[in-house]
Amino acid sequence: MKPNLDELGGLYSATLEEYLLRGTEAALHRSYELGRRALTEGLGVLEMIALHQQAMGKILLEMATPEKSVEAVQKGGEFLAEGMSSFEMTHRAFGEANAALRRVNEALEQEAKRIAHTLHDEAGQLLAAVHMTLNEVACELPSEGSGRLQGVRELLDQIEEQLRHLSHELRPTILDDLGLVPALEFLAEGVSRRTGLRITVEGGNGNRLPGVIETALYRVVQEALNNVSKHARATRVQIRVWRTDKLIRCSVSDDGRGFEPASMLSGPDRRGLGLLGICERLSALGGAVEIDSAPGRGTALQIQIPMED
Ligand SMILES: Nc1ncnc2c1ncn2[C@@H]1O[C@H](COP(=O)(O)OP(=O)(O)O)[C@@H](O)[C@H]1O
Ligand SMILES: [Mg+2]
Repeated sequence: MKPNLDELGGLYSATLEEYLLRGTEAALHRSYELGRRALTEGLGVLEMIALHQQAMGKILLEMATPEKSVEAVQKGGEFLAEGMSSFEMTHRAFGEANAALRRVNEALEQEAKRIAHTLHDEAGQLLAAVHMTLNEVACELPSEGSGRLQGVRELLDQIEEQLRHLSHELRPTILDDLGLVPALEFLAEGVSRRTGLRITVEGGNGNRLPGVIETALYRVVQEALNNVSKHARATRVQIRVWRTDKLIRCSVSDDGRGFEPASMLSGPDRRGLGLLGICERLSALGGAVEIDSAPGRGTALQIQIPMED
């Protein structure tokens, strides 16, 4: 909804004047209602303050003495605070929603770690036990039977390889052990092998980043690479990670066919949840992504996450 600034401004001035004149609770309550309306109509904090300043400016011109002006400014402050309370609540709710999203992401990551570990270690141990039993059985079989067991062993090796692969995809231990850039190199190698894309990974000075940031960037790049291999028809991908003063930045650029980001994130053509998931994962950490793409011009995701103190 487009805010009607003139109408809101007029109402704000009139209600403020009434509050300064009579100081009633009813006028204060109207300030609260006006603030709510401004918020639903899409007004920002700065525009609300501008409305207040405009209204106060007119009122102060009519004040007879400096004492009256000081009193008006003070009471005006109370009025503004009441009007801004909806903005404050929204701001808090946003913070709480982000914190909840962060907790959900962390819980999911822990779960992924647990399943990856079970797949890798426990299923691996079971398979090793099957191998040993097969060896024992082979000793007791005539030679043609033990030849057929070789086929079973090969199948078991394939299962083990697949389990290892799945476990790494779920949660690569290299991310915990060596950090983001080695984990991205490992991921890129796997994607390259499967898809034929030429992928370069640059950046990192060996220093570790906070765990939540490493995990978030790993997941974001993982989805970005999924998208490149599924949709882009690209030949090359460049991944960069670097740090500026208080920001961790990362970019993933491909030379593929590009797309119209605005229509993918909203509107009737909106598709899967990958890009949205990227936005939400970053927003939970106070970060953001800019999608720079157009049909025929490739795609670049520019990601940034603030470093926490
Ligand atoms: N690197 C890319 N190159 C070309 N198109 C892309 C790229 N990344 C995303 N897209 C487009 O954006 C759409 C939405 O992506 P996403 O939200 O990840 O959902 P999904 O991958 O499940 O379709 C894709 O369907 C595709 O049309
Ligand atoms: Mg996707």
